Amino acid sequence: MIDIRTGDCFELIKDLPDNSVDLVITSPPYADIVNYGKNISIKKSDEYVDWLLPLFNEIHRVLKPTGSFILNINDNCEGGYRNTFIYELIYRNSKETPLKLYDTYYWVKKAGIPNGSKKRFRNMTEYIFHFCKDAKQMRFYMDRVLEEPAESYLDRLKSPINNDNEIIDGVRERKKVVWVRRTSMKVDEDGVKDPDLVQRIVPDKVRPDNVFYFKSANAARDNTIRHPAPYHKELPTYFINLLTDEGDVVLDVFSGIGTTGLGCNDRNYIGFELNEKYAEFSKKRLSGNIDKEYVINQYDLEDNFIRSWKTITEIENTLGFDSHNHIEDCIRKGNKTSYGFQWKLEEQRI
Ligand SMILES: C[S@@+](CC[C@H](N)C(=O)[O-])C[C@H]1O[C@@H](n2cnc3c(N)ncnc32)[C@H](O)[C@@H]1O
Repeated sequence: MIDIRTGDCFELIKDLPDNSVDLVITSPPYADIVNYGKNISIKKSDEYVDWLLPLFNEIHRVLKPTGSFILNINDNCEGGYRNTFIYELIYRNSKETPLKLYDTYYWVKKAGIPNGSKKRFRNMTEYIFHFCKDAKQMRFYMDRVLEEPAESYLDRLKSPINNDNEIIDGVRERKKVVWVRRTSMKVDEDGVKDPDLVQRIVPDKVRPDNVFYFKSANAARDNTIRHPAPYHKELPTYFINLLTDEGDVVLDVFSGIGTTGLGCNDRNYIGFELNEKYAEFSKKRLSGNIDKEYVINQYDLEDNFIRSWKTITEIENTLGFDSHNHIEDCIRKGNKTSYGFQWKLEEQRI
């Protein structure tokens, strides 16, 4: 079920019953910097916390005791100094609402926002705060997100284990260390019974770090409307998988172009969005009815222009071959030659 409601989330959330939502995941408007349309006021950093905190109280009310609230947010610099409203938000939340801060994660982006300052590093991170109602009851499916151990983790395991080293005549004898995967624990059976050998068992899968490398939205193929600050669907998809089950209710109070809904699959999605244009677009986006418009030019191999197309389906219809995905991939991946022609994506419109 997809339910996009157009309006002010501070009002719309009041219509939701207590304890009815499994996951709230959202990215609120940035303080001061981003314009989301003429009817949407931009909050200044010094009024931001007073503005947002009442919504946190409502989020607590609608969350089930097993639920979570994932907040992706970032700050900015103003007058030469970094703003502190995010710290204020987290601190005042703990004093003024019953929501509990469960953990803090970091999203490291491949492309940061340039700041033009010679005395400031580029900002490549955003915060992801994880709140909950009750940590004991909160659902958290670690088994779904376990990862292959990184090389650095395996290297660490090769270093000697101090406790197992013997001290003989005041000299610490270092034992050799090998590591074996749990699934391939055949060392003993294979006859390696060197008493100086310490075996370490490496699990096949390990818990992820609290640092995420989600893509940015400008790298998203489905970001076809000019929204100033969408996230990539990787971010909501990860947390929806980690924290909810099939049939659960996921709410994004600042739904934008509905990216959270893209990660919902067999979950139910409720999105609130004040800008009618974004809300209408997200309805189409989530029902898969988007006519992507491009300027796609076709050239011969000598780079002579042949003709222009507006959609990939047009190419398919005119040329009569099943090229939809093939041409699209070919253009997006920069491998622009196919069927004896070059295809160039010159512009993407909505
Ligand atoms: C950072 S964007 C969210 C983008 C979203 N995560 C996505 O990927 O599409 C914040 C959104 O909140 C909307 N917004 C601002 N104030 C709002 C309000 N009071 N109620 C509902 N939506 C609001 C803005 O129009 C904007 O689309």
